Amino acid sequence: MKNLFTGELVCLGAPMPSIDAPLFSKWSRDTEYMRLLDTDPPTLASAKSLQDEFEKRLEDQTGHVFRIHTLAESKQIGFVGLFGFDWANGNSWVGIGIGEREYWGKGYGTEAMTLVLRYAFTELNLHRVSLGVFEFNARAIQSYTKAGFVVEGLERKFMNREGRRWDIINMGVLRDEWMKTYKGNFEK
Ligand SMILES: CC(C)(COP(=O)(O)OP(=O)(O)OC[C@H]1O[C@@H](n2cnc3c(N)ncnc32)[C@H](O)[C@@H]1OP(=O)(O)O)[C@@H](O)C(=O)NCCC(=O)NCCS
Repeated sequence: MKNLFTGELVCLGAPMPSIDAPLFSKWSRDTEYMRLLDTDPPTLASAKSLQDEFEKRLEDQTGHVFRIHTLAESKQIGFVGLFGFDWANGNSWVGIGIGEREYWGKGYGTEAMTLVLRYAFTELNLHRVSLGVFEFNARAIQSYTKAGFVVEGLERKFMNREGRRWDIINMGVLRDEWMKTYKGNFEK
């Protein structure tokens, strides 16, 4: 088996708050990215406040957040992270963002998600990973479907964008389902 956190296009790296914070701050200035990522209206995040937040998260161990690096250029293009752990029931949530938008739609996100699901199911022993995605984010929904998620429901008219209401689509993937379909890909 290859390195646990390495695929064909990307590898996942451990967080480094002092390096990550300026990048996240830069990405927060891309309103289209923020509009796809978060229910809050786009706001600018200072590198200083982000660094404090990331350092606290590392200390508290409240999430497992990874940097996404391209293998070809070793460039940091985004993040993927597991959070909201419910250890008694083996559940968690996942979030992902590729801040460097020239890398959208080229397979990087799906592979990063596949790597983090492998970690979730084969190392952390989780049974289920959930996410929420906005109904207008067709690229993300397609990427998640390719990574093994299925639509489980929706929260109707949950959020406000451009003066109208939008649904949040709930998607989830179970370990048994994922193991059947994807685990073999890593054993070739
Ligand atoms: C969502 C995200 C992580 C997906 O990663 P990605 O690398 O762009 O996705 P991939 O290239 O692996 O897969 C995208 C799929 O959607 C398709 N796609 C691309 N643009 C699309 C669009 N506008 N509408 C529908 N499908 C689209 C691609 O063709 C591909 O499917 P295919 O391989 O079957 O052809 C990334 O686009 C991103 O970070 N976007 C900005 C922030 C965001 O949306 N975060 C998620 C919040 S829930």
